[in-house]
Amino acid sequence: MRAAVITVSDSGYAGKREDTSGPAAAQMLREAGYEVVSVRILPDGKEMLKKEFCRLCDEDLADLIVTTGGTGFSPRDLTPEATEEIIERKAPGIAEAMRLHSLTITPRAMLSRGTAGIRKQALIINLPGSPKAVRECMEYILPPLEHGLAILKGEAGECARP
Ligand code: MTE
Repeated sequence: MRAAVITVSDSGYAGKREDTSGPAAAQMLREAGYEVVSVRILPDGKEMLKKEFCRLCDEDLADLIVTTGGTGFSPRDLTPEATEEIIERKAPGIAEAMRLHSLTITPRAMLSRGTAGIRKQALIINLPGSPKAVRECMEYILPPLEHGLAILKGEAGECARP
């Protein structure tokens, strides 16, 4: 599976802050067997992000798109809105699972408004912005995600039932 990583950060985009979250997500994806096809930094706000989502999904350039950052309460935190405006189907369980797991680590997990959904043949997932949060969320969602992506791509057999 091909994965694209997008860090959403005004200061990262302006080169004023080193991005460690995107590389952390990319590393975990590679370790899980994904081919990481792109790692980019975009500014907060919706327009550039929506354009990049549509490019990656509509040109079939990635199967999984992971964003980090822009999910909080600051006025420029609009990653969930950008995602919701371009997805065709919601995948709410992924964000619910990330928050459920993250709340066992920090009550501040409730402050991430991240969402997830599908456009064409690609799944988009919003992670919070800190590298710590990226690792905590990804370690929880990566194992079951494999099955979901296989279904999305039409490559899965029967769901194993207990
Ligand atoms: N989730 C996990 N697993 N670990 C964390 O440290 N930080 C929270 C939350 N989710 C956190 C987390 C905090 S402090 C904030 S403000 C929100 O994510 C939003 O982060 P963002 O605006 O960088 O996306």
